[in-house]
Amino acid sequence: NLVPVILAGGSGTRLWPLSRSMYPKQFLPLLAADESMLQLTIKRLNGLANLAEPILLCNDEHRFLAEEQLRQIACESNGLILEPVGRNTAPAIAAAAFHAMKSSEDALLLVLAADHDIKNIGAFHEAIARAVDLAQQGKLVTFGIVADEPETGYGYIQRGEALGDASYEINKFKEKPNLETAKKYLASGDYLWNSGMFVFKASVYLQELEKLRPELYEASRLAYEASEQDLNFIRLNEKLFSECPSESIDYAVMENTKNAAVVSLDAGWNDLGSWESVYKDANSDENGNAITPQTDAVCVDTKNSYINGGSRLITTLGVENLIIIDTPSALLIADRSKIDSIKLLLTELKGRE
Ligand code: GDD
Ligand code: MG
Repeated sequence: NLVPVILAGGSGTRLWPLSRSMYPKQFLPLLAADESMLQLTIKRLNGLANLAEPILLCNDEHRFLAEEQLRQIACESNGLILEPVGRNTAPAIAAAAFHAMKSSEDALLLVLAADHDIKNIGAFHEAIARAVDLAQQGKLVTFGIVADEPETGYGYIQRGEALGDASYEINKFKEKPNLETAKKYLASGDYLWNSGMFVFKASVYLQELEKLRPELYEASRLAYEASEQDLNFIRLNEKLFSECPSESIDYAVMENTKNAAVVSLDAGWNDLGSWESVYKDANSDENGNAITPQTDAVCVDTKNSYINGGSRLITTLGVENLIIIDTPSALLIADRSKIDSIKLLLTELKGRE
């Protein structure tokens, strides 16, 4: 049985002002007018063989939002694990692994982020089938994307020996290299981007974690053991989980394990982490403008801009390369080339964000 583990604990602050702390991006309909990214993440799995109900992990604050969104798509979850504080992905995945092993010792996990777009579902499912084969042989499998720019926000994977169709050993895994290193990797042609999705046996992940990060392993184990179940919610113990070191699976496990493999994925994958990536992922018109379906906009002499509104008419004249996000409580107008600095703006907002 393949158990999807959906990571929905990110804050998505770079998608301000649409993504707010009370309503982070994974719960928003960014890709379709009526379904959130979380809902699309789950629906994208329809049709996979031997699929179990998903385990969802999010911050305690968002439990009702998550529960309501699952209900809307008639998804019976395998448990909604609530984190009292964010401790990044390595502990979250550990909690899911402990939970999955309660039902089945050899549960296979498919770890997914709730903020990705994948356009070619057929290719995605084929890659999952390959990853499942390798995971059954005890590998920690990730999906590699052909890199086309020196993006520093991703992990980079150096392919090793072929293991089968579109599958390779991993020679080296480097999380978020600096720009200089990323350029070198890109030029070499033998690196793939880490997609941030994984397939492995719950038991194999936990063994590796115990070996590589014994403290983190032990703290997540204790927090899970002491969790309280109330209906479908599994609340990790606040005190014990707060004491857990905070680290991503990429740094804690993937950079250090000798037991990893990569399946290459060519399926129109995008991480919707920033407005620039949302713009690039969206369909744009002949002027290079991407205007979301629910936006009422009249644009004259406007080029290469992303416009996301809803409640009122938006008009533009003689501008280009803008990001315009209009919400009832805040409006953002930004130069696309500067959008990487949105954190500066958020700092300046001093709590009003
Ligand atoms: N439940 C939970 N708890 N989810 C979390 C937490 C947490 O504490 N922290 C992050 N997440 C979720 C986010 O919501 C997102 O869906 C996913 O885990 C990945 O976290 P990001 O913070 O978006 O990671 P990243 O984009 O910087 O890097 C990861 O993804 C890249 C590709 O998108 C890494 O895996 C990189 O190697 C990879 O290239
Ligand atoms: Mg991300």
